[in-house]
Amino acid sequence: MQVKKLVDLNVAGKRVFIRADLNVPQDEAGNIVEDTRIRASLPSIKYCLDNGAAVMVTSHLGRPTEGEVRAEDTLAPIAVRLGELLSKPVRLIRDWVDGGFEVKPGEVVLLENCRCNKGEKKDNEELAKKMAALCDIYVNDAFGTAHRAEATTHGIARFAPVACAGMLMGAEIDALSKATENPARPLVAIVGGAKVSSKLTILKTLAQKVDQLIVGGGIANTFLLASGHRIGDSLAEPELVKEAQAVMDIMKARGAEVPLPVDVVVADEVSALARANRIPVEEVGPHDRILDVGPKTSAKLADIIAHAGTIVWNGPVGVFEHNQFAGGTKMMASAIAHSDAFCIAGGGDTLAAIAKFHIAQDVGYISTGGGAFLEFLEGKTLPAIAALEARFND
Ligand code: 3PG
Ligand code: MG
Repeated sequence: MQVKKLVDLNVAGKRVFIRADLNVPQDEAGNIVEDTRIRASLPSIKYCLDNGAAVMVTSHLGRPTEGEVRAEDTLAPIAVRLGELLSKPVRLIRDWVDGGFEVKPGEVVLLENCRCNKGEKKDNEELAKKMAALCDIYVNDAFGTAHRAEATTHGIARFAPVACAGMLMGAEIDALSKATENPARPLVAIVGGAKVSSKLTILKTLAQKVDQLIVGGGIANTFLLASGHRIGDSLAEPELVKEAQAVMDIMKARGAEVPLPVDVVVADEVSALARANRIPVEEVGPHDRILDVGPKTSAKLADIIAHAGTIVWNGPVGVFEHNQFAGGTKMMASAIAHSDAFCIAGGGDTLAAIAKFHIAQDVGYISTGGGAFLEFLEGKTLPAIAALEARFND
C-alpha cells in the first residue's frame, strides 16, 4: 500500500484538515466512557501543531440524521477532552462547511460532527469539494472509519491539494499488514462474539489462511450445533449451521483446526448473580445456557496461543463482563500476554477485555478499528485507504 504520509510533509503555515475517528462510547449523560480513540489521534494533531500548522480536526459521532445536530450528536464533550489531553483550549466550530472561521498557525479547532452535514454519508461531491477548499493538506487518520466511503473519508481526498495518511492510519496499516501479508506461523485467529452472521465473511476468509481458528461466544455455540452437540438454551443461529460446517470443512481440508470446547460454563441466565456450573460439553441440559468455556478448554486454548507465531484477536470467548463467566477470556488474555507471538487485537469488546485483564502493554498492536479491522483482515479494499493510494503520485 503506497500512501503519502503526514510525517513526510512540511506543514508549516499550512491549513491542515484532519479526519479523525473520535467516535467514542458515551454514557447517557454524554460523558466519555473510554477515550482510546481520542488518545490515538493525538500524535498527528501534535505533529501538525508543533510544526506550525493551522489545524482543523473533525470526526463523526454515532449515526446522526443529516441536516441537524441534536444534543447527543455534538462533539462538545470531545472538544473538552481533546483540550485536556493537549493542554490547550479546543474551540468547537459549528456550521463550518462553507468556511468563515479563522484558525491561526499553532491553533487547533474541532469541526462539529461531520455526519450531521447533508451529503456526508452518500459521499456527495459538492460537499467534498467545499471541505477540500478549507485546507492545503487533507490528512486521513480515521482508521476506524476507513471502511466507509463518505465525504470526509473518501470524496475530500480527491479534491484536496494534498491527501495523506496520518500517523495512526500509518501505524494501523503497518501492523495489520504485518499480521496478514507474511505472518509468522502458526497463525492463530480468535473470533468471538454473539453472532456468526455478523462475522461470517471474516470466518470464511480466515478459514483459508489460519492454522487454528478459535471461535467463542454465540459463534462457538453455532459451531457446536454444527458438530452435533446439544446446546440447550444457548445463544446460537441454527440457520447458519451449514455455514459453520463449511468453515470447519475448509479448515479440515487444509489440515488446520477449529478447536471446539470440550467443557463449558453454564447457567440458566446471564446476570451478575447467576450460578455458574462447569460441565463437560456432552452434559449440557435443555435449559442450560453456555456462557463461557470450561477450564479444560481454556487450558487447551492457552496452549495453542503459547505456540503461536501470530495471533489475530477479535471477540471474547465468554460473557467476561460477569466474573463467573470470565475465566476463559481471562485465561486467553493471560496466554496472549505471555506469548512471544505478535498479536493484533481489535473491536470494542476485545478492547474492553484487554482493559479488564490489564494486558494492554503485552499486546503487539491494539487496533482502533472494529468493522474496519475486520474488513482489512478480510482482504477487502478499504475505500478511505484506496482514496489515499490514488493520490500517492501527486
Ligand atoms: C466504529 O465505531 O466502528 C467506527 O467509528 C465506524 O462507525 P460506523 O459503523 O457508524 O460507520
Ligand atoms: Mg460501529
